[in-house]
Amino acid sequence: MPETPLSPDTSAPVITRTMHGKILLVTIDNPPVNALGVEVRRGLLAAIEAADADANVAAVLLVGAGRNFIAGADIREFGKPPLPPSLPEVCNRIEACRKPVVAAIHGAALGGGLEIALGAHYRLAVASAKLGLPEVQLGLMPGAGGTQRAPRLIGAAAALELMLSGRHAGGAEAHQLGLVDRLAQSDDILAEGLAYTQALLASHAGVRPTRAATALADRDAARAAIDAARKDTERKSRGLFSPMKIVEAAEAALDLPFDQGLALERKLFLQCIDSPQRAGLIHAFFAEREVAKAPETRDAKPREIARAGVVGGGTMGAGIAVAALDAGLPVTMIERDDEALARGRAHVERVYDGLIAKGRMSADAKAAVMTRFNGSTSYEALAGVDLVIEAVFEDMAVKKAVFAELDRVCKRGAVLATNTSYLDIDEIAARTSRPADVIGLHFFSPANIMKLLEIVVPAKVSADVVATAFELAKKLRKVPVRAGVCDGFIGNRILAVYRTAADYLMEDGASPYQIDAAIRNFGYPMGPYQVVDLAGGDIGWAARKRRAPTRDPKARYVEIADRLCEHGWFGQKTGRGFYLYPEGARTGTPDPEVEAIIDAERRRVGITPRSYTDEEIVRRLMAAVINEGANIVREGIALRPLDVDMTLIYGYGFPRYRGGPMKYADTVGLAAVLADLRAFEQEDPLFWKPSPLIVGLAERGADFASLDQAAG
Ligand code: 3HC
Ligand code: NAI
Repeated sequence: MPETPLSPDTSAPVITRTMHGKILLVTIDNPPVNALGVEVRRGLLAAIEAADADANVAAVLLVGAGRNFIAGADIREFGKPPLPPSLPEVCNRIEACRKPVVAAIHGAALGGGLEIALGAHYRLAVASAKLGLPEVQLGLMPGAGGTQRAPRLIGAAAALELMLSGRHAGGAEAHQLGLVDRLAQSDDILAEGLAYTQALLASHAGVRPTRAATALADRDAARAAIDAARKDTERKSRGLFSPMKIVEAAEAALDLPFDQGLALERKLFLQCIDSPQRAGLIHAFFAEREVAKAPETRDAKPREIARAGVVGGGTMGAGIAVAALDAGLPVTMIERDDEALARGRAHVERVYDGLIAKGRMSADAKAAVMTRFNGSTSYEALAGVDLVIEAVFEDMAVKKAVFAELDRVCKRGAVLATNTSYLDIDEIAARTSRPADVIGLHFFSPANIMKLLEIVVPAKVSADVVATAFELAKKLRKVPVRAGVCDGFIGNRILAVYRTAADYLMEDGASPYQIDAAIRNFGYPMGPYQVVDLAGGDIGWAARKRRAPTRDPKARYVEIADRLCEHGWFGQKTGRGFYLYPEGARTGTPDPEVEAIIDAERRRVGITPRSYTDEEIVRRLMAAVINEGANIVREGIALRPLDVDMTLIYGYGFPRYRGGPMKYADTVGLAAVLADLRAFEQEDPLFWKPSPLIVGLAERGADFASLDQAAG
């Protein structure tokens, strides 16, 4: 087929136009993902204008260069002054083209990318394509006609499900839904697109605006879908702004003429753009990608990890084994004796049996996975592995003994990792003859599910071992955060301060139930005392007893939790903790006896309880978290504020829509955070001492984001 570049081509270089017979091929080429930045929008508009004006053009074919069709609006443009043409304008112009426009989709057609395709008159997709309207995950809603065109094309129920979940549909599913007209037979998107367009021309297929599609004709079904979505959203999307706007816009698709629906969509979209949730979620989107880029990942080549070992088959060891098995690695588990090993193996099997019970795995698949699992009570079995993750008791002497064994048996070049929560990894590494190979890999429970992996970098570890850890995180589909060695690293160090601040509030007058409720209303799934009851009060108690000899005698210490533990009230597993769990209930109810103990403790230490508003509770807990986060950044334990944000979001349930504690601090303003800290400092100068980092930034009128940018 002859290829004749149109000349002169005035469009931006991100859009190229070539003639293939009577088909104008418009290629979007804006690496890395063909996002719809202003140049792309201008180029697309110009291409459609040119097609309409050129009698030689009979049809237009839109194709993305590289790995994707179009990943959506350019997220980096949100929050900046908009530049014309707007995306809705471009989609409308495509739809109004007098020649048939075909979108040939491979890779991602997401958000605005799918909306461009919905503006086209015909759509073709390859099976591996990913189509979706994931704006909700960024605190947004489709804002370029998606809320109006998708329901008209595939019905309200399917459109709402896509828009509210934000999930991606594959090419075949999209075809089944009616989102695309044809499923390509091969992955050669250009050949497939051209052939389809030729066929359309041959059959004299005309323009076919999606706005005129009729999937909403069954009004009763559409109404029922909208009502159901509204109910569901009220229940599930507590605290989120954009999901209800999506429902509202979809309702407009049913009730209003197309252009009025579009106008309402625009209005609601702009409200979403202005919401702090949009800023928080987009911060999280980019931060999630930034954390994966540590200095070592740029400079060093990762070692190959083909076989893994796990020492310890308890809660963490078993979960880590499952995570590694799920990533396709063969795993060797070491335990102290046959009985413990059998328990470890049973623990691994239980995870898969759970999946089978839920219908998410077949018995055959489990059997296949378990062929890659073997266990031993002898360290010799680790001789051939490339990586060992130790998850034995949190006890320095035990860990050192394990690392001495690993040093003895493991091959040279094997990465030796510890899952310790708090212990000094430099000290553990020093027990081996190869500290350059020793690193911390701090998983979170349940380790096969929780996304966070703190990569704890001791002083002597080599860069390629750090790079290997990041590569492993990718393989395990974890979000890696680089942390330095200190007591508790990033996450648990902040958790300790958060808990202490909560304990102060409790002793000073707030009930644990009020504190939990205030934190849930802020967006956490659970409050601090619900978490204690879930994890087991005995764990924290043991840690407090261990630390007692080194505790600063001047620091305030709240004994309420210790009193509960002395009664054997360790939380859910003992039927009571801060809450009562009658007959194995998972949700606790307030316990008057606990309240009496709290009162008694207040009297014992001479505190007259005062009342707190929920807002003040949140302010205090967040001030404590932000202040410790700032100290952690200042000490270089976290590379940047965004690393703290990712740790808290992925490991501790911090509401993602607030972007993490450091982003939240920027949202309320560091001057306000500092003012709170200074006020609280009057009560307890030791605990509430403002971080010098916050003081410095606030004095300059700067924010944490400026540190993220400086590091990027
Ligand atoms: N805008 C700007 N940059 C984007 C982008 C976007 N829409 N999508 C991805 N990028 C950037 C990433 O930040 C990353 O940059 P980096 O290399 O500097 O870190 C680079 O592109 C590659 O991205 P990934 O690492 O995520 O690449 P993958 O191949 O793993 O995934 C993807 C590709 C599935 C397209 C994934 O990037 C993605 O899900 N992107 C976001 C899609 C989305 O949410 N679209 C909706 C946008 S909102 C919208 O369209 C509003 C409209 O309705 C008006
Ligand atoms: P656990 O008590 O459930 O399991 C520890 C296992 O190690 C037991 O099965 C024990 O038999 C085995 N073990 C002890 N000494 C051993 C040795 N010398 N050789 C082989 N096996 C040995 O403990 P858990 O909760 O799994 O914790 C393990 C480690 O993970 C600890 O360092 C802990 O701090 C850390 N961690 C725990 C988290 C949690 O939520 N439980 C979260 C993140 C880290």
